[in-house]
Amino acid sequence: LIPLIIAAVTGYLLGAIPFGYLVARAYGINIFEHGSKSPGATNVKRVLGKKAGNTVFALDAVKGALAAGWPLLLAKWAAHQAAASVKDPAGWTVFTANVKVLTPDLVIPVAVTGLLFAVLGHSFSCFTRFKGGKGVATSAGGFIVLMPVVTLIALAVWLATFYTSRYVSLASIFAAIAMPVAAFFLKQHTLVVILAAVIGAFVIILHRANIKRLLSGTENRFVKKSAVVS
Ligand code: G3P
Repeated sequence: LIPLIIAAVTGYLLGAIPFGYLVARAYGINIFEHGSKSPGATNVKRVLGKKAGNTVFALDAVKGALAAGWPLLLAKWAAHQAAASVKDPAGWTVFTANVKVLTPDLVIPVAVTGLLFAVLGHSFSCFTRFKGGKGVATSAGGFIVLMPVVTLIALAVWLATFYTSRYVSLASIFAAIAMPVAAFFLKQHTLVVILAAVIGAFVIILHRANIKRLLSGTENRFVKKSAVVS
């Protein structure tokens, strides 16, 4: 249980770092008062341009990648140490004893917990009065670590939807559906499939205002700055 609690707490705190808010503030803007009022990468890009938006996307994705990635790295390190201890005639069993806390069967549950809480932290950040983004970049960063091929499929769905519709929200919603479906068909670990379904549902719920706007034809289309804004 302790590794799971550690994963939840570190995941939440990592996810809660409000990069969108901080980057926008560096530009002298309170992102909660502009555009869609979301501190996500999309809205920062909408309000402050490509560079700021891409920076927020990268930083938010890294939060997810770290929250899901540290258990995998720790397990790799543990395996390496265990292998080294076998080779060592003096038998450095102290290494294996040290990393007992993360036995192989715990790696995926701990990584899954880490990412789940990172996305929750991102969307309900304790540093910004429990407001936050819609979880797309953070979950993408985590899933690229947990299941790269599936994430690339979801990315392809995102790109295809965006470049045909110019709606970021619609692209995110379709990618959120594609992720668990592709994870299921590509036979990923059951817990990871469940996580993709839970996060997918969560991301879609957070897009409810976008869905209303999409249905009423008033959603923001993302157009190049030089083009006429619709
Ligand atoms: O990732 C968020 C995106 O799908 C929608 O963002 O700012 O248009 O609500 P926004």
